[in-house]
Amino acid sequence: KKSVEDIDVSGKKVIARCDFNVPQDENGNITDDKRIRASLETINYLLDHNAAVILCSHLGRPKGEVNMKYSLAPVAKRLSELLGKEVKLAKDVVGEDAKKLAAEVKPGEVVLLENVRFEKGETKNDAALAKAMADMADIYVNDAFGTAHRAHASTAGIADYLPAVCGFLIKKEISIMGKALSDPARPFVAILGGAKVSDKIGVIENLIDKCDTIIIGGGMAYTFSKAQGGEIGTSLCEEDKIELALGLLKKAADKGVKLLLPVDTVCADHFGADAAPVVYEAGKIPADMMGMDIGPKTVELFSEAVKDAGTVVWNGPMGVFEFDTFAVGTKAVAKAIAESKAVSIIGGGDSAAAVEKLGFADKMTHISTGGGASLEFLEGLELPGIACLQDK
Ligand code: 3PG
Repeated sequence: KKSVEDIDVSGKKVIARCDFNVPQDENGNITDDKRIRASLETINYLLDHNAAVILCSHLGRPKGEVNMKYSLAPVAKRLSELLGKEVKLAKDVVGEDAKKLAAEVKPGEVVLLENVRFEKGETKNDAALAKAMADMADIYVNDAFGTAHRAHASTAGIADYLPAVCGFLIKKEISIMGKALSDPARPFVAILGGAKVSDKIGVIENLIDKCDTIIIGGGMAYTFSKAQGGEIGTSLCEEDKIELALGLLKKAADKGVKLLLPVDTVCADHFGADAAPVVYEAGKIPADMMGMDIGPKTVELFSEAVKDAGTVVWNGPMGVFEFDTFAVGTKAVAKAIAESKAVSIIGGGDSAAAVEKLGFADKMTHISTGGGASLEFLEGLELPGIACLQDK
């Protein structure tokens, strides 16, 4: 895809879609500004190359209503601190104020439109809204990797009306993850966790075709264990995915892909931070106990598989990591990845949060800024926010 470096932005008005959908506490304070920091390279490039910059993003899901709880005001403030320059926040998206600020913005200056999801047409990819945003600028830059799986007016529709290119964040995300899928350093090990098989079917299917080892942990492992005839007590299980789990096990075996499941499980008699951990062999969980984390033998098995990997892709925690007692497996896997020499790619969401919380972020090759978007990318799906951009 063409990027900002492949188009002359000097003296032009550039509307850039970022993903400023950042977590906030109850007082509206931003608790993690990683996504704002991840957009700086593109914004600074545009400013340094004499462009007038109009930024836009969504925040949360205000469902087409103006709701100041979802205002981008805290983002404008933080962004202004990070850029070291004023960021003017428009009061609306394509209304009078936005149009006025967009008309006035000069090269080297930054305007941020209000939350695009204050407009009903945004999530419907409404053509009139897309055109109204496009009319404010000469060039469209998409750098919102985290929202690239959405076909919305500001992520896809707008590209019908302007020359459309990607920013540095999207470029980096697709080049690193794209290489892992098309030409990985081997052995290629994928580690998938999280609660539900149904969320990860597409990723498992796609990765079975590409990797050498697939590791399955987290809540979804119990469905696989049950499929193999194991006793899983009161652990999470998707009964309607048991056949599918069997199919995936067979597919891996047919392709000669090693599929590793937990060999032991840390269980508890109830779901809570205060629950006492007890370890059982996988598939031998008593009827009144539930699996909460991978056990110590599994940590060894998974760490061993990661040790000599050429590429590791990780998405999804190994257990209920929000409770310290049951975060041991997730921490250990993060540590094993951090210590290996592999190209390490961490899918967004929970695994990215875990890696950062544990202080391993610097040791990873790439931590994706996308949750849903990185999953869909690893599934091999075409992301609308990327498909709409001009080819080189
Ligand atoms: C995310 O946080 O995954 C993205 O910003 C997309 O948000 P959405 O799921 O509300 O579209």
